Amino acid sequence: MRKLAAGNWKMNGLTAALTEIVALCRAHPAPACDMLICPPATLVAQVAAVAQGTGLALGGQDCHSAASGAHTGDVSAAMLKDAGASYVIVGHSERRTDHGETDAVVLAKASAAQAAGLVPIVCLGETEVERDAGETLNVIGRQLTGSVPDTSTADTLVIAYEPVWAIGTGRTPSLQEIAEVHAFLRQRLTARLGTEAAGVRLLYGGSVKPSNAAEIFALPHVDGALVGGASLKAADFGAIVAALSAA
Ligand code: PGA
Repeated sequence: MRKLAAGNWKMNGLTAALTEIVALCRAHPAPACDMLICPPATLVAQVAAVAQGTGLALGGQDCHSAASGAHTGDVSAAMLKDAGASYVIVGHSERRTDHGETDAVVLAKASAAQAAGLVPIVCLGETEVERDAGETLNVIGRQLTGSVPDTSTADTLVIAYEPVWAIGTGRTPSLQEIAEVHAFLRQRLTARLGTEAAGVRLLYGGSVKPSNAAEIFALPHVDGALVGGASLKAADFGAIVAALSAA
């Protein structure tokens, strides 16, 4: 399995930020892991042009569940693909919170992504209240059941475990807590998808940075990271790519 370092720029990045893409591709021309940036939709085509011929893959941060139609302001999976994307994040907790996206909505988006030939990165994660109540695995299990398409294979699905309370806060679960959730995810996916589950990349996300990446990547069933803040600077994201390549 090729591991995956995925950067999520969220609602950050104007044309000037393309210099970070150039720097990243120069510093890591042939990384030993897959390297992905999900810029805002406005930049996907430009980043694709800059990244052409390099090892960098492109992704969207969300897509609509419909293939096309009267959905003002939305972007379809086919549009992202047309602009140069090969992945799309779906069900990020910021979408679930800001836009009321349910598991059913996330499932429809993930299915639309797969139908258009994009690999969905399906995000799951508990809130701090849920973790404190001992509900973490119940929540993750429910989200996994509700938002992952049944027909997924190792090549058409990535899962990102992102505890909501660890996103953008500088706080992370203990290594043992991350390992526990990832082992649970692999077990549940195996029950669901059979042998394909072994090849599905399971990413950890939430305050991953150069200083903690190596210890997280050393954990079993952690096959990469979904990185927010630390993906905006080529030097920081490059250090995470290097740590994953060495893991
Ligand atoms: P963070 O965000 O790395 O800034 O915590 C991760 C994410 O939301 O994907």
